[in-house]
Amino acid sequence: MSENFKNRIARYTLRVDEKLNAALPLTSTSPDRLHEAMRYSVFNGGKRIRPLLVYATGECLNVDTDLLDAPAVALELMHAFSLIHDDLPAMDDDDLRRGKPTTHKQYDEATAILAADALQPLAFSVLANIQGVSATAKIQLVQLLAESCGSRGMTGGQSIDLAAEGQSLTRAEIEDMYALKTGALIHAAVVSVCLLREDLSAAHASSLDDFGRAIGVAFQIKDDILDVEGETEVIGKPAGSDQSLDKATYPALFGIAASRRRCAELLDGALSHLEPFADSAASLVGLARYIVERGQ
Ligand code: IPE
Ligand code: IPE
Ligand code: MG
Ligand code: MG
Ligand code: MG
Repeated sequence: MSENFKNRIARYTLRVDEKLNAALPLTSTSPDRLHEAMRYSVFNGGKRIRPLLVYATGECLNVDTDLLDAPAVALELMHAFSLIHDDLPAMDDDDLRRGKPTTHKQYDEATAILAADALQPLAFSVLANIQGVSATAKIQLVQLLAESCGSRGMTGGQSIDLAAEGQSLTRAEIEDMYALKTGALIHAAVVSVCLLREDLSAAHASSLDDFGRAIGVAFQIKDDILDVEGETEVIGKPAGSDQSLDKATYPALFGIAASRRRCAELLDGALSHLEPFADSAASLVGLARYIVERGQ
């Protein structure tokens, strides 16, 4: 009998944590406070959704697990960088993340900014050091990471998010913002693995591309629902922090019921894109459901 979903997820989580540990400089290496802050930001209870999507897409496309570690680590480092900035006083001004002080609260603002500054190039360095793939695939991976994090990806989405505070956006505008600020890195997790299968059919690549886009937007709508409903102990910050910043979110503009409906619709769409992969997509199906049904 094949290993069940829960065991596979636990195994991949452990694996990416080991690889992250190996990629990050030791706290005994100078400048030690900077390295401590980088490690603090990465090892504080994240769900590792982006790495898990990398490994699950690897199962789906039968890619050697050893090739998946570099994109898994690079995306989690990039994600950690984005969260440090997201929590800064100039952005969402959050004191808690995952139930613990945010990096600028645990250290200081300058150290937090620099820890984020250092995590981003480390992500590129990890990808540039990937072994066992063609030079073309390597360049494509680096390019995808750059685009997904840049002004037409996560950073651009964060810029729109800040400018939209107190504004009323249309559904299409909100979803475009979500596709950038959160969807881009999630989509990149899936598409990175497609780049590792150079013989992948255009039809299969397009199905996974569509899957990545749908689940990325669903992820942010669910994050917003949790912000409205969440309890401090569960998601590590006071419920309603989006409301106090007058964030333009899906639930704030269209209500919780419509947000839940849209999440379910995006999940259905995402799952339909996995049909061509039959049983090999079992882990991706499980992760997609988890993204929409999770409690944190
Ligand atoms: C939170 O992401 C920020 C968003 C992009 C919505 P996650 O919910 O993946 O954060 P962790 O890493 O698991 O805490
Ligand atoms: C964050 O969105 C998206 C990022 C690119 C970091 P949020 O601001 O909603 O994330 P949380 O709720 O603080 O984790
Ligand atoms: Mg934010
Ligand atoms: Mg935030
Ligand atoms: Mg949020």
